[in-house]
Amino acid sequence: MNARFPVMAIVLAATLAAAPARAADGRELVAMPPMMQEHMLASMRDHLVVLNEILADLAEEKYAEAAKVAEARLGMSSFGLHGASHMAPHMPKGMREAGESLHRAASRFALLAQEADVERSYAAMRKLTGALGEMTTACAACHAGYRIR
Ligand code: HEC
Repeated sequence: MNARFPVMAIVLAATLAAAPARAADGRELVAMPPMMQEHMLASMRDHLVVLNEILADLAEEKYAEAAKVAEARLGMSSFGLHGASHMAPHMPKGMREAGESLHRAASRFALLAQEADVERSYAAMRKLTGALGEMTTACAACHAGYRIR
């Protein structure tokens, strides 16, 4: 075995251990009380569950169900659910806007899903996938800009 290998391995291990955990993380840290952090992360995990349910509904052509879950848990009707009025003052403007754009897109998706349920057309599906993309764009935009821990 190459005699220098152990030395190199130690140097590499030391370099990795010393590397800051958040190297090249340009996200803005948003401070909020611990309870609010937990609440936000729980509601985030629910966002992903909802997205997953919506995709399953679409795969089975259950557009009315997709509309219901999108509006109730991500749309404008979900504001109370997420405690938006308590959270908003802790958020920078850009973060609030990303949140609002998610809720607006989800409500638009819900309307288009009701339409798709009636029309069952390719054109209706195209609009629906567009609105779905606007929803995930809002998820991605906020995640790219902000962190809470
Ligand atoms: C308004 C901003 C914002 C929007 C919109 C948003 N998120 Fe988040 N999300 C966050 C922040 C901030 C975190 C915590 C990041 C960190 O500090 O590590 C997070 C974390 C998460 C987590 C990890 C939860 C955990 O327990 O670790 C999941 C999953 C998640 N988001 C899913 C989603 C999905 C899916 C969407 C869109 C449907 C979405 N989020 C939209 C801001 C947002």
